[in-house]
Amino acid sequence: MFDFITDEHKMIQEAARDFAQGEIAPIAAEIDETGEFPMKTIKQMGALGFMGIEVPEEYGGAGMDSLAYALALTEISKACASHGTIMSVHNSLYSYGLVHFGTDEQREKFLRPIVEGHKIGAYSLTEPMSGSDAGNMQSRAVLNEAGTHYIINGTKSWVTSAPVADFVVLFTMTAPEKKHKGITAFLIDANQPGFVLGKKEPKLGIRASATSEVYYENYECPVENRLGEEGQGFKIAMSVLDTGRIGIAAQALGIAEAALDASIAYAKEREAFGQKIGQFQMIQQKLADMKCRVEASRLLMYQAALAKTAAKETGARYTLEASMAKLVASETAMWVTTQAIQIHGGMGYSKEMPLERYFRDAKITEIYEGTSEIQRMVIARNLTGLR
Ligand code: CAA
Repeated sequence: MFDFITDEHKMIQEAARDFAQGEIAPIAAEIDETGEFPMKTIKQMGALGFMGIEVPEEYGGAGMDSLAYALALTEISKACASHGTIMSVHNSLYSYGLVHFGTDEQREKFLRPIVEGHKIGAYSLTEPMSGSDAGNMQSRAVLNEAGTHYIINGTKSWVTSAPVADFVVLFTMTAPEKKHKGITAFLIDANQPGFVLGKKEPKLGIRASATSEVYYENYECPVENRLGEEGQGFKIAMSVLDTGRIGIAAQALGIAEAALDASIAYAKEREAFGQKIGQFQMIQQKLADMKCRVEASRLLMYQAALAKTAAKETGARYTLEASMAKLVASETAMWVTTQAIQIHGGMGYSKEMPLERYFRDAKITEIYEGTSEIQRMVIARNLTGLR
């Protein structure tokens, strides 16, 4: 039916499904409980090509398109949303910026080592007082007198993978008077002095993905590690988020699919009042609505991934398609996992089944990489042209 899904797409989807169900699903509950970062399976994912799916082959990546990435990420997230978060930040929020805005030297130094999953990449935009209002940041980068290094100071928060990251794409102010036009992007080596890890966030869900604050204390960043031009940072951050939001749609779809599959199986097996609960109209209605919303999310995700691929030729933005996919898929994940718990009753509330984990993991998809409120704002602005 969907001619745009090629044999190559199906191969990567199947490979991701096999790996996710064989290697990740068995450890998902345990790492959710312990909060341990799953380095072993992430490295295995690197060896399989899942940590650099869209990175061109000349830099060691798989050289595939956005649809391949979304299909694989859905399968990984279906088994474990923490793995989905790590994969998504690494592939889209970290790698995409380097592929599109980096120099060849920067790609050799900061991209090649991470595509195999042996080194981890992170993205750092948010600050304690600047989340949705991303342009309003307080951190600063000041060029030294010799003109060789930027000296960076400030606090960044909610940095996914920071505790294990080797490299970070950092957005900070070089010219505060210019507001968002004064933001610049930098490639940060997390093993250099001045990069100080702050508190690790104790999170509701995606508990095996490591998230922390980072303090920059006179961090010296060589000029050659600036990504793009001075003042180009906000646009880089936003265009990276466009691609990131397709990833979060894929992650949310994976979580929702897992909850739906479990609910169908339970409805066919569990009996009440002398019949299978799937024979009750109220359960049927839930399952039907869950399925419709999952499939609608999948179609929006396909649309966004195809828009991104088309944009390679035209240079057009796919902001609208990415925001719609992210908004609908994340709200679907939250709604479907809520219904799934209801269908399972007490068992859905128990940690003996994965439903409560799906529910906790789903919530973040409505928050990070732009809240649902921000997605609605972006969509409406695109429709009207008004600000
Ligand atoms: N692509 C390219 N350029 C873009 C763009 C895009 N998608 N969106 C905006 N721009 C450009 C605009 O064209 C404009 O350019 P000019 O100055 O030349 O006119 C400029 O950026 C400023 O745009 P806006 O005036 O629209 O900016 P704004 O201040 O009103 O903010 C916003 C827009 C959509 C609210 C934006 O701030 C936003 O997306 N906020 C949410 C931030 C976010 O998603 N944070 C999550 C961080 S990552 C994370 O979650 C952690 C993790 O590790 C997973």
